Amino acid sequence: MRIGVLTGGGDCPGLNAVIRAVVRKGVGVFGFEFVGFRDGWRGPLENATMQLGVPEVRGILPRGGTILGSSRTNPYAVDGGVDRIRENLHALGVDALIVIGGEDTLGVAAQLHELGVNVIGVPKTIDNDLNATDYTFGFDTAVNIATEAIDRLHTTAESHHRALIVEVMGRHAGWIALHAGMAGGANVILIPEVPFSLDRVCAYVESRFQSHYSPILVVSEGAMPDVSSGESFVLDKGVDAFGHARLGGIGEWLASAIESRTGKEARTTVLGHIQRGGTPSAFDRVLATRFGLHAVDAAKDGDWGKMVALRGTDIQRVPLADATRELKTVSTELYAEAEVFFG
Ligand code: F6P
Repeated sequence: MRIGVLTGGGDCPGLNAVIRAVVRKGVGVFGFEFVGFRDGWRGPLENATMQLGVPEVRGILPRGGTILGSSRTNPYAVDGGVDRIRENLHALGVDALIVIGGEDTLGVAAQLHELGVNVIGVPKTIDNDLNATDYTFGFDTAVNIATEAIDRLHTTAESHHRALIVEVMGRHAGWIALHAGMAGGANVILIPEVPFSLDRVCAYVESRFQSHYSPILVVSEGAMPDVSSGESFVLDKGVDAFGHARLGGIGEWLASAIESRTGKEARTTVLGHIQRGGTPSAFDRVLATRFGLHAVDAAKDGDWGKMVALRGTDIQRVPLADATRELKTVSTELYAEAEVFFG
């Protein structure tokens, strides 16, 4: 069997570990051949390929990023894009695709599967918001990076008696903010799922200062003030090929709102792509490797239209359609656990 592999969407630590596991088991155990498609769906769309054999995956386990490249190319937004993909796969003699991606990349894979393309999905995103899997790889690394940043911000905040805000990634789901905020002892955690009251945030900031400590606030890039706040935050960075707003800026907005309401100095650190770059944590390397091994098993079984998923400590196969139907968000119960430590 000849299998194409692609990585799409925002990159995340562990992508190379998946590619390595797919190729090592695919070639070594099943005798498959692989074709690397470059830059997500751009690869099969434009016939942009690279050799992908055992020599190409040597030494990549601890490397961040993806040797295949990534993009947010959406074949459904390109005229005749899907037909071009099918023609190119046929011309290259590619029997199946292993698609490593998040909601958008796997959403395309699910639709192609409906059209008869043989696909297996592997869930990736630092945001951890893919349904049907307990965790995605990349998330643990991002949480560790954000937690270390919070630890460092605590000490400098104390020295200068300032409120420090950390803006972390998380478009629709606050998993990174919640986990890093809990691990780092944040005094306020703001997530997209729960619009925040500016009055309440300022009250937490003041009560923290009253206890002679400086507040650390962790805010997801997708968090928003509620209507009671009387002020709104407007995004103005356009949208990507899947129609998602480009986020960023809520941290700065919050700092100036806190300063004007409390009179206390407030500053913001935006962690941005630092959360996505660099070497994966040991947890993510193992999870990504296991996902890769199970994805190639699913291809061997011809179990198309499935995504490998972590359930407890087992890797299981779930329908791609289930995985992409809705996002996994933070529940109010879980958020309430973190709230105990606010202020
Ligand atoms: O989807 C993962 C993610 O890291 C989001 O948290 C973030 O909003 C987005 O990617 C940023 O994407 P880009 O690097 O394309 O701006």
